Amino acid sequence: MSRQFDVRPNTRPRSDADRAAILADPGFGQYFSDHMATATWTKDAGWHDREVGPYRPFELDPAAAVLHYAQEIFEGLKAYRHADNSIWLFRPEKNAERMARSARRLALPELSTEDFLDSIETLVRTDHAWVPSGGEGNFYIRPFMFASETFLGVRPSQTVTYCCIAGPAGSYFANGVQPVDIWLSTNYVRSAPGGTGAAKTGGNYAASLVAQQEAYDHGCEQVLFTDGAERKWVEELGGMNIYFVTTDGELITPSLEGTILEGVTRDSVLTLAADRGLKPVERRISIDEVFDGIGDKSITEIFACGTAAVINPVGSLRTADAVHTVADGHPGEHTEGLRQALLDIQYGRAEDSRGWLRKVC
Ligand code: COI
Repeated sequence: MSRQFDVRPNTRPRSDADRAAILADPGFGQYFSDHMATATWTKDAGWHDREVGPYRPFELDPAAAVLHYAQEIFEGLKAYRHADNSIWLFRPEKNAERMARSARRLALPELSTEDFLDSIETLVRTDHAWVPSGGEGNFYIRPFMFASETFLGVRPSQTVTYCCIAGPAGSYFANGVQPVDIWLSTNYVRSAPGGTGAAKTGGNYAASLVAQQEAYDHGCEQVLFTDGAERKWVEELGGMNIYFVTTDGELITPSLEGTILEGVTRDSVLTLAADRGLKPVERRISIDEVFDGIGDKSITEIFACGTAAVINPVGSLRTADAVHTVADGHPGEHTEGLRQALLDIQYGRAEDSRGWLRKVC
């Protein structure tokens, strides 16, 4: 039984012309490359049947456990094409570690870092022609794992499917990098102490959708959640972590507390902050402190970050009663500087002094 992700080529890949048309304007999360990685776990045999084969729909029994109890986790990372045509991943080991943590929380089997990296690197090598070149195009990679046992009972699944798909991507937000308006959710929370907030599991995102819709209904692109116990402490956005720049030269982000996703971009930004003379601070920050800071201008910039969105300026925080515009509503210098610094490393334009990049081919 192979321990590696062997390639079974897609005999009907998209034509060069189709691929070129997609690469010209990929959007985000709309198109996928010709192959996907899969592996199966069973309680008795562990992980087996590793392969990178043709991209295809799953055949799933209607009684598959994931469809009923949402036992599922996922990851998001990107591959970047550098000027010399080489292709690189950004801190993929961090995603492997987080997926293992998410697996433990969701009572799913851990996939080893070796398998995680092998599945991704084999997929990227196989579909290298799909990795965009130029601009901020990237190859967004989505590893995930779900309960595939056919069984209607509430217990950890004894059959689990791992899969990794990927596709070319541009900006996460339809309008590109523009300040986004954020809706403060007062009706809903996404996580609570002891819950699954720190895990990257579909249920957290499902729980955020009604609030996300509320945000859209109020003309906002994203929703901000506070904590589940007191509804006081800022946690995170529907799909991103949040940061505040202050006149004291601090870069504040909510401390993790077990309810916030431990973002790879979040960690990278904290590290890069010092290079810009900012003091990274992880602590609890209340929504009232944020409103006061915007009001008295001691908060000069707010931005959101995540793998998909990179770093995106926040223009305003909104509630049913008020619009709190951050500074003059335009992207701040640290937001833009940090974004550029991160992208320069990812695209090989700046020295990777911390060894964050991993070459695929
Ligand atoms: C990512 O940033 O990669 C995520 O998985 C978040 C999702 C909102 C796209």
